Amino acid sequence: MAFLADALSRVKPSATIAVSQKARELKNQGRDIIGLGAGEPDFDTPDNVKNAAMDAIRRGETKYTPVSGIQPLREAIAAKFKRENNLDYDWKQTIVATGGKQVLFNALMATLNAGDEVVIPRPYWVSYPEMVSLCGGTPVFAETTIDNGFKLTAAALAKAITPKTKWLIMNSPSNPSGAAYTKDELRALADVLLAHPQVWVLTDDMYEHLTYGDFKFHTIAEVEPKLIDRTLTMNGVSKAYAMTGWRIGYAAGPIELIKAMDMIQGQQTSGACSIAQWAAVEALNGPQDFVARNKAIFQGRRDLVVSMLNQARGIDCPVPEGAFYVYPSCAELVGKTAPSGKVIGGDEDFVSELLEAEGVAVVHGSAFGLGPNFRISYATSETLLEQACERIQRFTASLK
Ligand SMILES: Cc1ncc(COP(=O)(O)O)c(C=O)c1O
Repeated sequence: MAFLADALSRVKPSATIAVSQKARELKNQGRDIIGLGAGEPDFDTPDNVKNAAMDAIRRGETKYTPVSGIQPLREAIAAKFKRENNLDYDWKQTIVATGGKQVLFNALMATLNAGDEVVIPRPYWVSYPEMVSLCGGTPVFAETTIDNGFKLTAAALAKAITPKTKWLIMNSPSNPSGAAYTKDELRALADVLLAHPQVWVLTDDMYEHLTYGDFKFHTIAEVEPKLIDRTLTMNGVSKAYAMTGWRIGYAAGPIELIKAMDMIQGQQTSGACSIAQWAAVEALNGPQDFVARNKAIFQGRRDLVVSMLNQARGIDCPVPEGAFYVYPSCAELVGKTAPSGKVIGGDEDFVSELLEAEGVAVVHGSAFGLGPNFRISYATSETLLEQACERIQRFTASLK
């Protein structure tokens, strides 16, 4: 009898965590490494949020909370959806979990049976297919291209849907591409979904607050209210309020689904950390100027990185609408020889030779299901970003 569960053979470790670990190891060996692999804001959590957490500790808010979260937070979430997304959810239709990651996992765990298909546009966030597989479902990938900005089209969605499709996972702005869907683009996808009433939508809006220029964020249930009865609108405080370590994610959706997710969570982690929940109440209800300030900083970094990468030989870097990632192509460099003598066979070789030659850690696109590309997280200082891009320029110029 095997000791480890069969389910483990269906999943891979996270490539993004592996890159960060490799960069850390090289740094510990004394190498000069610039890590652009991490997917978290480099800012500190705002003081008003930290103070709310300290007040909660002093008040003794240190006990178990209801599984789906404290009522003040669930009310703050319902108010946020109304205020920012024009979505009408009762607070009882919301749920709080230990990070957006747990929201997604519980939704899939609560709904997937063997043979159920989940449509995932690629490139995708590394955890989607792994979670689907762990929960016993089958990921079905829908194709996008660099020429359409890595966005799912109505035609590609229609092609991916079968009678077995249970969910479509949407993620706008996207990790890893930074692509975000306009209202019209969501409208076209909604029209396809209206013709397939068995398909539910899990929309991961984690990066909602990080969009740049004139781009206006929309979420699918707002664009097509008829979809609200089969949409789980997921979000969190991790990226918008620099709160990745506090582990608070949330969602709203049809009450039967929320109850099923509550059931899973009740036998698993129970309610999220009580103190972090009170901090999240302040993040959502308190002053929002932090969000606008950081958005402006991120936009400056995006513009710097896109411009410098497009000056690197053989790199094609589209301008993403949001998040803090760019997803350039290194297709023109495939077949060239690195200073080590290795021929670059694809994005995986490109990123490992870049790390070896110049000490810049980025993540290969094939980990996100679409290459030959690589992902850069620009959630770090302009000084480091400038140095990293200069090194990338030198590396691409050195390829023979
Ligand atoms: C697209 C996307 N969804 C969800 C998450 C998870 O967020 P959390 O830290 O709240 O679990 C991440 C984090 O990297 C992400 O990039």
